[in-house]
This record gives sequence, C-alpha cells and structure tokens, in this order.
Amino acid sequence: FQVPTAFNETVKSYAPGSPERESVLKQYREYLNGNVEVPLYVGSYEIKTENKASMSPPHDHKRVVGHYHLAEKSHVETAIQAALEAREKWANLAWEQRASIFLKAAELIAGPYRDKINAATMIAQSKTIHQAEIDSACELIDFLRFNVEYMAQIYAEQPDSSEAIWNRVEYRPLEGFVYAITPFNFTAISGNLPASAAMMGNVVVWKPSDSQVFSAKVIIDVFKEAGVPDGVINVVFGDPVMITNTVLDSPDFSGIHFTGSTEVFKSLWKQIGNNIDKYKTYPRIVGETGGKDFIIAHPTANPQQVATAITRGAFEFQGQKCSAASRVYLPKSTAGDILDRVKADIASFNPPGSPEDMSNFITAVIHEGAFDKLAGYIDQAKKDKDAEIIAGGGYDKSKGYFIEPTVILTTDPQYVTMETELFGPVVTVYVYEDKDWSETLKLVDNTSIYALTGAVISGDRYAIDEATQVLQNCAGNFYINDKPTGAVVGQQPFGGARASGTNDKAGSAQNLMRWVSPRLIKETF
Ligand code: ALA
Repeated sequence: FQVPTAFNETVKSYAPGSPERESVLKQYREYLNGNVEVPLYVGSYEIKTENKASMSPPHDHKRVVGHYHLAEKSHVETAIQAALEAREKWANLAWEQRASIFLKAAELIAGPYRDKINAATMIAQSKTIHQAEIDSACELIDFLRFNVEYMAQIYAEQPDSSEAIWNRVEYRPLEGFVYAITPFNFTAISGNLPASAAMMGNVVVWKPSDSQVFSAKVIIDVFKEAGVPDGVINVVFGDPVMITNTVLDSPDFSGIHFTGSTEVFKSLWKQIGNNIDKYKTYPRIVGETGGKDFIIAHPTANPQQVATAITRGAFEFQGQKCSAASRVYLPKSTAGDILDRVKADIASFNPPGSPEDMSNFITAVIHEGAFDKLAGYIDQAKKDKDAEIIAGGGYDKSKGYFIEPTVILTTDPQYVTMETELFGPVVTVYVYEDKDWSETLKLVDNTSIYALTGAVISGDRYAIDEATQVLQNCAGNFYINDKPTGAVVGQQPFGGARASGTNDKAGSAQNLMRWVSPRLIKETF
C-alpha cells in the first residue's frame, strides 16, 4: 500500500484583525467563560466521579474555567480491562484502517477542531495563538501524518526469501497494553504518545498531566470522532502515584511511553524492574525526560546570530521546552556585544502577560510550583557572589505566574543554574577566554547529566568539526549555527540520551518499532 505522502501543516499567521484570529479568540473566550467538564474516558463510557479538581489558566489563576474528574483505583482497573477487551479486534484490524483513522484525526485538527485545540492550549498552557498553532495544531498534525508514513515503511520491510522458502514478518502489537504519561508543555507530544502506540495496534491507558487536561480533552474528542474505537485509548486523571501503581501492578502492562521529568522516569523504571516477575513480557520503556540544553559560541560566530539563538532558544514558549537553551558559553571577545543585543531584545518585550494579546512574547509559567522554583533560583542568583542578574529578574504571581525573561551571568561554569534544569525563561551565561575554546567544549560535555539538545555557533569549520566530535554524546539533537529548539516533525526526529531519555526519537520509524513485537514466519514449500 502506498499511503498519502506526509507533509508539514502550514502555520497560520493569525494576523491581528483577521477572521482566523477572531475565530480562535471567540472560542478562547467561550471556554474562559464556560464551565468545561472533563470526564474520564474509559471504554465506551465518559465517567464523572465524585471527586473533581478545578482548571485555571496559568495567566489568570484565580479564574476557574472548568473541572476534571479524578479516578479512583477501580476506574483505573476498569480502564485496563476496557483496553484489554478492545485489544484483539484492534490488533487484528488491517493497518491501513488504523492509518486512516489517524489521518482523519489529523484532518479534523487541521479543520473543525483547530480553533478548539488552539484555544484549549492557550488556556491550559498559557500559550499565545502563535505558540498554540505551532504546537497543538501543526506539530500534532505532523506527528499523525508522518507516523502513518513511517508505519507504512515498517510494514513494508520484509526479509529476503529463497527457493521454496517464504520468509515474512508480521509487525504485531505488544501483548498487553501501553501506558502513556504525557507532559503539560506540548499538546503535540501529549497526543503523539498515545497515538503512536495505538497506531501500531496497541491499546492504551493514558494519563495526561494535570496541567494539560483541557487540551487532552480536545485530543481524545478528536480521536473518538476520527474513529478510534472505544477502549483503544482510555484516559484517566488523578493521583499519579495511585494510577501508576495500579497500572504497573497489572501483568498485562507491556510498555510505557513517557515524557516528563528525569526523576519520575527513573522511579518508574525502578518500579517496573521491581515488578518484572509479574509481567508476561519485558515491557518497552520509552521516555523523553529532562534537559540542560546549551549554546556554545565560537569567537568567529556572528554576534547577532548568537543573540537571536539565545533569545529565541531560551525564552520562546516561556522557556518551557525540554529543548530550551538554558546554559550558554560565550567567548570574552564578543560576549559584551552579544549580551547587549540579548538585553535589547528583552527590553523590547512587553512585560509577561496574557496569551490573548499576541504582542506578548512571554506569558505565564505553568503553575505555582514552577513559579516558586524559578523565583527561588532568581533570588539565589541575586545573593550569590559568583552570579549576577544582567537582565530581567522580576516576578509576580498576584494574577498569573509571571516570570520576566532573565539572564544570569556567572563566573563559575558549574554554578547551580548551569547544571540544574529550571524549565522556565531563565538562562545562565558563562564567559570563557577565547584561547580556551577546546577546554570549554570539554566543560560543556562534563557539566550536565543531560544530553537532549545543544547548539554550536561558529564561522570556523574546524571549530564546528571539533565541537561536533567533542560533544558527540552531549545532545540527541545537535544544531550547527542555529538555536537548539524547534525540531520539525518529518525533518528533525527528536530525543536525547544520558539522563534525557531513551532517545527513541519522537516522529520516527525507530519510535514506532518500539510498539511492535515482530513475528517472523518461515514457510517452506
Ligand atoms: N520538539 C520541541 C523542540 O524541538 C521540544 O523544541
């Protein structure tokens, strides 16, 4: 079968005054003033439980826009049961039929659900229309379209046969169910993790982040409308420890598709290890976790190019990208010039504000915990002798969780914010002596436990080559003369190594292969 050739969805501009923009804002206001109820999605049921939690936009945290229902242990058990009951039929459905469902989901997001998913993402994650469009519309559509293409490539891959012998491979789904745990920061990732496992014939129990329930609801509505049968993707919200314990206690647990913190991923891995004797199969463990993503500029780098890479890499999307630049190494000869340009960029921004106003470059960070953590590190940098705040440094949580884009300059390359993932609009800069370029590359390699993204900016090809070699284990996605963010599905498969994950690139055939258990059949004539 030849599937339709995948293509990247065009990002709409939503120019002020345009009908497209007004339409999203209308949906946004409707949601803001409405009272959305998000049930659990278990088998064919939408369950409203006794326990509810409220949903509030991070930029207006006193406003309640709706509620979501919290699962009891019995609901999680029923979700597992529903998944297992749906499994046989789904696993045996011709793969082109599964592909069609997810291609239809892509078209639903591109069309009738575009405003809904963008508005929900603006509210849940405080993204501007532009940020929401890139994430929840285009990137999610791209994941669905390109994964269908990769899926077709996988099924087409067959061994050689020989005279009187026919060898063939069936790419069977895993025996059991897959557990998807998804993060708050990308609606696209949130949709992709359950979808990529389900596409390959698996059934899924999905626990979205509490901070992203609203967009998760739109995603599951899309999947249902596209024809994902009841029980194939079940959604539960609530106490993560209870949900995880219940899921990981099941003998039918067969894999985890995770994006979130390194700490949680490690604890899941340990728990799966401790439970290993319970399971029918060795579970697949696929995770994308933390990052401490770097930019290193060579003395030959163009200062404006470096400044733009810092401003965009560190502050776009409030710095809440796992790929966001958070430690920067600048040569002494050009550091002043580069930092002046970054400061000018920051000075040109509106103060952090509502995502409704498209002229706001920075909105709110996700919740109070994130705000307090960031404010704490900013305060510490204000006090520490080896650190100095050279831009931003302000914060205010009276209405929304607003943190100014902040640049910390440190004289200690191992300063706490050079090593610790902060996940917000704060970047730390270390200035090295130009002659120490090679030593500084080693420093970049040795400073962080993570290896998600990184960038080298240089006009010197020998320096680029040296950086590429010395930093070979330092970033799953390595960028030359660019910022370390903004991987495009179908072009830059995404994922990191070391403490950043299992590097099973999101948006790749390699990732989809983790969700199959191939059966080789040899037939002799
Ligand atoms: N995939 C996102 C990026 O590359 C996180 O920035």
